[in-house]
Amino acid sequence: MKTFYIETFGCQMNAHDSEKVIGTLVGEGYEQVETPEQAELVLYNTCSIRDKAEQKVFHRLDQFKRQQSGKTFAVLGCVAQQEGANIFEKAPHVSMVCGSASYAKLPELLVQLEAGNKRVTGLTFDSDETFETPMTRRDNPHRAYITIIEGCDKACSYCVVPFTRGPERSRVSASVIKEAGELARAGYTEIRLLGQNVNSYRDPSPAGWDFATLLNQVGHVDGIRRVRFTTSHPRDFTKPIIDAIEANPALCNHVHLPVQSGSDRILKSMQRLYTVDQYMERIEWMKASRRPIAITSDIIVGFPGETEEDFELTLALLKRVEYDSIFTFKYSKRPNTPALAMGDHIPEEEKSRRLVVLQETQRQIQIRRNAAYVGRHEECLVEGFNKATGQWIGRTSQHKTVNFLRPATEESIIGQYLNVEVTRAGPHSLAGQAVN
Ligand code: 5AD
Ligand code: SF4
Repeated sequence: MKTFYIETFGCQMNAHDSEKVIGTLVGEGYEQVETPEQAELVLYNTCSIRDKAEQKVFHRLDQFKRQQSGKTFAVLGCVAQQEGANIFEKAPHVSMVCGSASYAKLPELLVQLEAGNKRVTGLTFDSDETFETPMTRRDNPHRAYITIIEGCDKACSYCVVPFTRGPERSRVSASVIKEAGELARAGYTEIRLLGQNVNSYRDPSPAGWDFATLLNQVGHVDGIRRVRFTTSHPRDFTKPIIDAIEANPALCNHVHLPVQSGSDRILKSMQRLYTVDQYMERIEWMKASRRPIAITSDIIVGFPGETEEDFELTLALLKRVEYDSIFTFKYSKRPNTPALAMGDHIPEEEKSRRLVVLQETQRQIQIRRNAAYVGRHEECLVEGFNKATGQWIGRTSQHKTVNFLRPATEESIIGQYLNVEVTRAGPHSLAGQAVN
């Protein structure tokens, strides 16, 4: 039996790619093991969205450099695509470098690797197919990812993704619906539709569905109780998506709509293709909805040329939208991107200062917003149990975490849907008691 170990960095797309890579390896006769020490083949599925993420894989590889381990190393994912064969120079003990667009070729690449080839590469974008596998090893028994579109055709000036994941390729709608049906029959109740930009989904089959149609149809699959999607680009985010959520109870009360900045000048320089007003129009659709749609976002501080005034505009936007939560990032220089060559890069300490101010502003918003949930009943999908506190961990349709108590029972309730009365609220989570 051949053994492998895989470690995954980065986004949900990468996490799901790893599930498919594991399925492929198992199909090729490999057995997954828990530690790199036990493995003959060690794979790192890497992220290069920010410099820190990229450095992680080189740290890992360095740890093994000094030991003559006799192991085979492979670098997959975004760093592989970005650095290509340079990785063999930086880390000569690596034998395979393969980007996500080449995973369909993994079985062939493994044959080369097993034949003793020390420089195996899968780095081309020559296939317009999406990566589908007969076997996927899913790591959660209740919630499953489905990729609907790969790659990205936008050109945000700070972003490596168009280089690391290539051009957009949408998956045939019938194949998505088939997978959703299979998942439902296997007991999954929550589906997350994935893509770098799900809103630009375009069914390549004659059915020709757009994203709103696909979303609605997945929500009608028997047995599926919750559907989420990530990530959305404001430029391609249409009103029919909100209409679908309103009409279909299985679609969750949550939209993640990254804004990046609250300054039109910075948005232009980021090549985001929308203005603050256009973004706010989409926010207003959600706020006007009959459904209580939670809104979350990604924000970058310290983009080249960002003045104090631009930053203040971002803070003002936060207060206008009143996000349920945000992911915050300091701008990080990435290879090949247009922003790299821009003047007026912001000093690191100033980026850190803006990050703290941004996070504190958002914290106050979350304290206020979450307090309004006290006394309400929320349906939660139970996702775990915290032994230290004796609380169950649940997730609401709005994607809020609820830590709750329930009269002691022998059996696990993970995977069930329960109503929880919210009794307390903090900035990052709610707490309560099960009512059924
Ligand atoms: N620097 C900082 N943050 C970035 N992001 C993408 N590229 C960069 C970069 N070069 C952030 C964006 C994106 C999220 C996934 O990561 O906010 O939405
Ligand atoms: Fe990181 Fe972007 Fe690649 Fe995801 S797609 S792993 S966020 S670089």
